[in-house]
Amino acid sequence: MKLTIVGNGSMAHALARGLHKNFELEFIARDEDVFEALFNEYKADTISLQGKIDVTGKTLLLCVKPYALENVATKLHGEARALYSILAGTSMQVLNDAIKAQHTIRAMPNVAAAYGSSATALTGDSALKDESMEIFDAIGRSIWLDSEKALDIATAVAGSGPAYLALVAEAMMDGGVRQGLKRDESRALVNALFEGFAPLLNDSKHPALIKDSVMSPGGTTAAGYSALESHAVRYGFIEAIEKAFMVTQKNK
Ligand SMILES: NC(=O)c1ccc[n+]([C@@H]2O[C@H](COP(=O)([O-])OP(=O)(O)OC[C@H]3O[C@@H](n4cnc5c(N)ncnc54)[C@H](OP(=O)(O)O)[C@@H]3O)[C@@H](O)[C@H]2O)c1
Repeated sequence: MKLTIVGNGSMAHALARGLHKNFELEFIARDEDVFEALFNEYKADTISLQGKIDVTGKTLLLCVKPYALENVATKLHGEARALYSILAGTSMQVLNDAIKAQHTIRAMPNVAAAYGSSATALTGDSALKDESMEIFDAIGRSIWLDSEKALDIATAVAGSGPAYLALVAEAMMDGGVRQGLKRDESRALVNALFEGFAPLLNDSKHPALIKDSVMSPGGTTAAGYSALESHAVRYGFIEAIEKAFMVTQKNK
């Protein structure tokens, strides 16, 4: 199957890097100077956004900025086979009003897509559930959800998530420095901690079991953990996701 990527930015390239080995790719982009590079890198055909484009039967991966949707849509004619959109905060209704397609899917990747490690939420026409998961597994791990509301919640959890985890990482580095570690030592330790934690979490039935396995009576972890609870860190995260979700609803 041929996939037509619309746009040429960082997410378009993240997808292309993951997809070009298993799919034939085509780009629709406005900057013709990059066409040769797109062919050399992905063996991708290229179509200029300067003229009108017949997208009948195409499978489109829309990777432009949300504000560009209206402008890009005026150039696309005919009914696409499928429209996959990664546009943040752009509803199925808005997409369908702009671009005609037999099936529409919304995807919400996160910034780790650049490393092939995005947590990507998907929703939309369930006829394309399997296909959409195959496409977005190319940039990490995809999770199918049953509604746009769930996608908005997923945006608050996994779209914003890297920022929350960055705060945890920075705070732990600062804690190490405060107790006397050099900055680069503390940074190296926390980086290694995050790297090792991913497989641990994946393998664990519940995160609390990881905590139980390292917390001994009257020990270091018990002391540190109760300090986190006394500062309501757990509730802080729960409320952070509520606040982020509320923002997605305000823009409707
Ligand atoms: N980055 C993330 O972590 C992330 C996460 C979730 C969702 N998203 C979504 O992914 C989409 C792309 O983001 P990105 O990070 O890849 O952005 P980006 O690197 O800035 O790329 C944006 C692309 O849109 C094109 N574009 C902008 N205005 C246009 C217009 N008027 N007509 C035609 N093309 C236009 C740009 O074309 P030129 O190259 O010619 O300028 C570029 O190819 C956005 O909708 C964003 O909401 C991104």
